[in-house]
Amino acid sequence: MDVRTLVLGAGAAGMMCAAHAGSDVLIVDHAKAPGEKIRISGGGRCNFTNMGVEPERFLSRNPHFAKSALTRYTQWDFLGLVQKHGIAWHEKTLGQLFCDGKATQIIEMLRAEMGNARLWLSTSVDEVTHDGARFRVRLTREGRTVEVTAHNLVLATGGLSIPKMGATGLAYRIARQFGHVLVETRPGLVPFTFSGAVLERLQALAGVATPARISAGGTAFDEALLFTHRGLSGPAVLQASSYWTEGEAVALDLDPRGTLLEALKAARSREGRKAPATHLAAHLPQRLAGALIPDGVPSRLADCSDAVLEGIVGGIREWRLTPAGTEGYRTAEVTLGGIGTEGLSSKTMESRHLPGLFAIGEAVDVTGWLGGYNFQWAWSSGWAAGTAI
Ligand code: FDA
Repeated sequence: MDVRTLVLGAGAAGMMCAAHAGSDVLIVDHAKAPGEKIRISGGGRCNFTNMGVEPERFLSRNPHFAKSALTRYTQWDFLGLVQKHGIAWHEKTLGQLFCDGKATQIIEMLRAEMGNARLWLSTSVDEVTHDGARFRVRLTREGRTVEVTAHNLVLATGGLSIPKMGATGLAYRIARQFGHVLVETRPGLVPFTFSGAVLERLQALAGVATPARISAGGTAFDEALLFTHRGLSGPAVLQASSYWTEGEAVALDLDPRGTLLEALKAARSREGRKAPATHLAAHLPQRLAGALIPDGVPSRLADCSDAVLEGIVGGIREWRLTPAGTEGYRTAEVTLGGIGTEGLSSKTMESRHLPGLFAIGEAVDVTGWLGGYNFQWAWSSGWAAGTAI
């Protein structure tokens, strides 16, 4: 069978590309349904984009690479599509846009946009070659081998995150086969794990959530922090994890508004007979407040000198912890690294090594922040490749 364009992977990027790639498109996926990550995303409501999309909110070895696609197919373009399909949406916090209803509406929208493109599900990709003029791709569909030849081949099989949902390194393997360099991959937007005495301390706080500023690798995020039985999670931690390198400490500021010291000093003159932890609990969850008072602190706030209060608040604002690791690809929302951008055109996502080969979405070394940024990259890069085809 011969097609003009074969897209490997019917996820966010692949479907967006298929919708814009003109006629004679075949899109294949080994899953039973397209867009499975869209379906489960955003707690089932799909955080489909973010009002604050800016290239600085994406990680890549080349920080300029994502600019072209992101500025030519923007969050407003995708929102326009959502509105055209009558999908109700709302803004949550930090510019995050979600469906009012189910995430499956986004999948249905993309399927409708794909028009006459053929979609083959439960189809595995066995071999890909190029004969000098066309790609030859051997597939297994319903137990039978099918050979497809294609003028264009789009790699849209995503990254390694959540292997249980069918994530594989297929795009990386094919890209490498055709001479592309890969940037080392690692899990991103993922909880931290700890060991030993630090873990014991964190475990005692499991279930506590609080606003925090978390810094890793020189970047800080102000969002919620969650203590867990294995370490730290919550949006602030997931964001910081993408900037963290193994062995490095992360810095926690549990008073991100910076008002605690003055509040404690004021409380000391007002109600000095109470314990410091009692006053702290007015600003932090009670269990956390109790755990953050160092040994040897006077039992009455009135007896705490400025230096003692500064010591308490200092520990709360500069808590440095070194994670043992992360939860890994098992729970990571995204994969950092991937197909190196130097081998791709930022305008079309086409290979610089082999014309007709394209790579889009999470498979490429572009990773967004938490909050709709990764889907926007999938839409923008899928659009860039699709309209170039
Ligand atoms: P994606 O993974 O979507 O699609 C790849 C497709 O290729 C899949 O359909 C897969 O089955 C197929 N495939 C893989 N290997 C194959 C093989 N060997 N043969 C055939 N097919 C193969 N982002 C965001 O912006 N907002 C959000 O709310 C969320 N929420 C979220 C929740 C959870 C739990 C996860 C894990 C991730 C998110 N994300 C997110 C991230 C977002 O889901 C992700 O960045 C995009 O889905 C990436 O789109 P792609 O199309 O590149 O890959």
